[in-house]
Amino acid sequence: MAVLLIKNGHVVTDTNSFDSDILIVDGKIGELGKNLGKVNSHTRIIDATGLYVLPGGIDAHVHMELPVGGGQYSSDDFETGTCAAIAGGTTSIIDFVTPEPEQSLIEALKERKEVAKKSLCDYGLHMSITSWNNGISKEMRTCVEQEGIPSFKVYMAYKETIGLEDEHLIAVMDTAAKLDARVIIHCEHGEIISYLQKKFISEGKTAPKYHPLSRPPEVEKEAAARALMMARYTRCPLYIVHVSTRDAVDEIVKARASGKNVLAETCPHHLLLDETEYSRPGFEGAAYVMSPPLRSKHHSKRLWKALKNGDIQVAATDHCPFFMKGQKDRGLDDFTKIPNGVAGVENRMALLYTYGVLKKKISLLQWVDICSAAPAKIFGLYPRKGTITKGADADILLWDRHAGSTISARTHFHNCDTNIYEGFKIKGKPYMVITNGAIAYETGRIKLEKGSGRYLYRQLKTKG
Ligand code: URP
Ligand code: ZN
Repeated sequence: MAVLLIKNGHVVTDTNSFDSDILIVDGKIGELGKNLGKVNSHTRIIDATGLYVLPGGIDAHVHMELPVGGGQYSSDDFETGTCAAIAGGTTSIIDFVTPEPEQSLIEALKERKEVAKKSLCDYGLHMSITSWNNGISKEMRTCVEQEGIPSFKVYMAYKETIGLEDEHLIAVMDTAAKLDARVIIHCEHGEIISYLQKKFISEGKTAPKYHPLSRPPEVEKEAAARALMMARYTRCPLYIVHVSTRDAVDEIVKARASGKNVLAETCPHHLLLDETEYSRPGFEGAAYVMSPPLRSKHHSKRLWKALKNGDIQVAATDHCPFFMKGQKDRGLDDFTKIPNGVAGVENRMALLYTYGVLKKKISLLQWVDICSAAPAKIFGLYPRKGTITKGADADILLWDRHAGSTISARTHFHNCDTNIYEGFKIKGKPYMVITNGAIAYETGRIKLEKGSGRYLYRQLKTKG
């Protein structure tokens, strides 16, 4: 029987913070309290004096080795990406299955699970619906009832590849509502983006700075309003990903006030960076090409406020890095060819602590909620994960709030030659990370083997 005893730490969850020791037995939290029994010569005792003891982070939106065409994949695979996650205090990720058009969902799931099994930490999968036919609703039922996937992702942009027409978005929402599942939606008006992209390119406007101009804030606002309207009539629980504008927040607040079951996520890059990054010299702005793009500062102010007052529940990263050399530079002469996406899974907890908690934009308990408890509750992992309670998986982050560092691509675990937070000063970092009762990260090193993570079956209760 493997036993770990964490002594003298200060436990912080989304609802409470208190001094307690924690006994971990066979991968689960056995007991909390003082003077815990069952300690013998095989017990490893970890002294957590001066440390916060938190539930490990849950990043509910990542894309490891995402195929983007032309034989290219996002540069972190499930091994390197989960090393980065663990090094940053995140102990579970939720990635995506993205079926080829007309491919069976279950077949695509089987393939994705094979790719994902290199993960060092536990992983769940959302199912993307990238085309629609009569068989899909039956497969969605199989996902929910047999495969532990009660969340379905749809894209309103990328119409030429994985995006859906409104008629099919409605069909997905209608089916999900009947299955008590949640639809995750990327809100951008695809046709206007395509129109603006073509217009800019035909005018010779090919630089990265035209990326945000082809996706102005109205593109997100309109799509969010339309998604919310479709969700209202289909009674579908919604989760809007990577909210980047104050206008979309306003739409969400209005919808929730009228009783709509809508939850939302934003990302560290939308909170901490702004559109001036696209004016960097030469092609440097390409490092910041993600969708939706970075906005002006008044949008990020509103996003922080929305996290503070609960209008947005989750901070996830949309982690999807690409190397500048050999990947992003495919768009040297045409910004529309720059693969969309940035890294963040390693930096999320530290950024939200340093620039959220320490700057008093969110509280300590809210930090734990936004980064761990809320995603666990929303996506069917709670209370197995996202909290510190007897019987939960022993996914624990020992946080040294006094340690400092500076983010850099030279030292990060991400498999990427840039870091959009390069030079950001950080206060606080993981002292130790425990996943399923095993030491996963200690003294700056990953301690687990590739393949230590387990697939997470998830179940939701969206009503009542
Ligand atoms: O720019 C982004 N968001 N890249 C990841 C793929 C997606 O759109 O979710
Ligand atoms: Zn994404």
